[in-house]
Formats: sequence, structure tokens, C-alpha cells
Amino acid sequence: MNSDVPSSLPDSLPRHIAIIMDGNGRWAKKRSLNRIRGHREGAESVRDIVRACREIGIEFLTLYAFSTENWQRPRREILALMSLLKGFLRSELPEMMENGIRLNAIGQIERFPGDVVKVLQEVMDMTRENQGMILNLALSYGGQDEIVAAARKIATEVRAGRLQPEEITKAVFSNYLYTQGMPEPDLLIRTSGEMRVSNFLLWQIAYTEIHVTNTLWPDFRREELIRILHDYEKRERRFGMTGAQIKKAPHRQ
Ligand code: IPE
Ligand code: IPE
Ligand code: MG
Repeated sequence: MNSDVPSSLPDSLPRHIAIIMDGNGRWAKKRSLNRIRGHREGAESVRDIVRACREIGIEFLTLYAFSTENWQRPRREILALMSLLKGFLRSELPEMMENGIRLNAIGQIERFPGDVVKVLQEVMDMTRENQGMILNLALSYGGQDEIVAAARKIATEVRAGRLQPEEITKAVFSNYLYTQGMPEPDLLIRTSGEMRVSNFLLWQIAYTEIHVTNTLWPDFRREELIRILHDYEKRERRFGMTGAQIKKAPHRQ
């Protein structure tokens, strides 16, 4: 399986990569195509990047596929995205099984139509025991909603007397998020050049390294990912400390 990995991988790799997959519409517009064609080509990039991350040995990959705000898009586009998602899950399941990829949806998946939820649930169940890599698909995901939902669950626990207010620490709080038990992303990539986080993983990216590329998502393939990983390796992650302190004890956790 490692035959495609270039010999020039950096020595230190992120454990968790998060990606805001943006620019499908502009990719299509540049070619005078319908936006949906852009999403279709974007699905090819998803396949390539998931495969590459697995081969490279990334432990967690979180892809922003549909935001809570994306519900405001034209109905036709939303339906096309749902149908692409279903097709993607069905076609990728055998490879996910073969490569030990576990699928985990994060977001308000109950807002999706029943048939989409069913396929999602099936793929999550089928891949539950896989140990190779966790693929988080952010679907109807919004960081602010995630934090509000966590606060609500914690408030319920406190009201029921199962949790004391003083016991609410950062670690406890993170256990109420979709990403409970996972390390925070080390690297956040956004394609298509926009300098914003668009409500993605607001809590989890507190100390994440950010890389914005002008490449539109359908043009983003593994070669560029590997270039970004080389750039990431050169970053000095200081976590609020001084450069000298970091050189002595390079790991935060
Ligand atoms: C990202 O591409 C995919 C989704 C948000 C579903 P866009 O559809 O946002 O493409 P642009 O930003 O309009 O080019
Ligand atoms: C962010 O892209 C959401 C996803 C990639 C799923 P958008 O295209 O929706 O973000 P904005 O609206 O440009 O910030
Ligand atoms: Mg966009």
C-alpha cells in the first residue's frame, strides 16, 4: 500500500489534519460549468486526499463537507450534495474496510434526509472497528452550535446534580464536543484563498497551525498536501512559550 508514498515525506507529521474544502463553485465557474460539476470533481479530491493521508500515516483527518450555514444554499445544490455524499459513501466503503479507515460524522446529521442518515449510519457501523485512521466528516457542522450544545448538556448534568460547576474544566468541556477523545488538529488547511474559518472547529483550533492555499478544492491533490506537510514541519509551535523554551522541551502534551 505504501508504493505511492513519495520518498520525501517530512520526519514529523501532524497527527490530526483538518481541511476546509472550499472553491468547488469557482472551479466550475472558471470552466463555465454548473456548480454541481465542481462538487463532483471535489469528491475526486476527497478520494485522493483520504487515500494519501492513510498512506502517509495520518491518524485523524477531519473534512468540512457541509456547514450549518450551507443549508441556506439553493435547494437544488443541497440535493446534489446529498446525492454525491451518498454515492461517495457507498463507493468508498470497500476501500475504507481494506485500509482500516473508520468513518465518523460530526455535526447535526439528524437534519439530513432519512436515506442519507441511513447510509451514513451503515458506513459508521461497518467501519467502527477499523484502526488505521479516523475520517471525521463534518456534515451540517457549525462550531458555535457545537459549543452551545456542549454547554446545554453540561448544564443538564449540573442541574441533575451529576456534575459540580467547579468540575467544569477544559478537559471536561471537550468531552462534550463531537471530537471527544481526539487530539486537536495540528494543521488546518483551507483551499481557495479565503482567510476565514467559517465556523469550523472553533474550540479545537485554539493552537492549530493554519495553511491557506489559493488552489481551488477540485485541483487540490496529494502533491500539494505533501508540500504543505513540508512547510508544516518547519513551523515552530510555541503554544505561548518562548522559542528557547520550545527548543528544550518541544512537545506541549
Ligand atoms: C465548497 O465549495 C463546498 C461546500 C461548501 C459544500 P463551494 O461550493 O463553497 O465553492 P465556492 O466557494 O462557491 O467556490
Ligand atoms: C465553508 O465553505 C464550508 C465548507 C467547506 C463545507 P463556505 O463556502 O460555505 O464558506 P464561506 O461562506 O465562504 O465562508
Ligand atoms: Mg465556498
